[in-house]
Amino acid sequence: MSRVAIVGGSGLTTLPGLVATDAQVVDTPYGSPSSALSLGQFGSVEIVFLPRHGEGHRLAPHSINYRANIWALSHVGVTDIVAVNAVGGIHPDMGPGTVSIPHNLIDYTWGRSHTFFDGVAGNVQHIDFSEPYDAGLRSRLCAAAEIAGVAIHDFGVYGATQGPRLETAAEIDRMERDGCDLVGMTGMPEAALARELGLAYALCAVVVNHAAGRGDGGEITMDAIRSNLDAGMASVLRVLEALFTR
Ligand code: HPA
Repeated sequence: MSRVAIVGGSGLTTLPGLVATDAQVVDTPYGSPSSALSLGQFGSVEIVFLPRHGEGHRLAPHSINYRANIWALSHVGVTDIVAVNAVGGIHPDMGPGTVSIPHNLIDYTWGRSHTFFDGVAGNVQHIDFSEPYDAGLRSRLCAAAEIAGVAIHDFGVYGATQGPRLETAAEIDRMERDGCDLVGMTGMPEAALARELGLAYALCAVVVNHAAGRGDGGEITMDAIRSNLDAGMASVLRVLEALFTR
């Protein structure tokens, strides 16, 4: 039996429609998760919800305890994680308000506690990460988008940057040459940690701005990000509702 968690990012610090029945504070060997886990009914399914940035969005991308979050979800029996992340769009078709289900990623983050296999207890393992996102979960998300009537891109390479600052236009040019279609700050090490614990993981990326130097090349303002976030999250919620209605 699968048990699904939604890890919400910016714009999804609470999950509208979740009928919460329990809040579990999980103590982990890696410290505290971003918040208590909310357990409850969403659509017709029992799910677990965790806001990645904590309640009230208090944690910056590099300060999130990704290991505690993923360990806690695994500890309560989660088998599948749907991550929701706000991103900048690099691909010309991935403008503000669009939603993508990326198929691969490039990690540009540094200095984050990024593995459970750090050799401390003599445990060194090298997971296969050729395809970082779970194929089955990705196709379920794409099918749910179709049912919900939400147009999505069913591909994309997600570039994970360190933040919290946004990128320079030259950095985005380099990322585009590398093959990135989307840029965000929280997709790693989350995806790799989920793989290390054997959890299926897929990402629903909501484009909230043109990446630096893209679009009209103007300044990226928080006001514009916020308004695109609201519109994009409304689409994501429709996809999630379709995913969890059986
Ligand atoms: N860059 C990195 N992370 C982001 C962006 C961006 O342009 N927009 C939202 N998250």
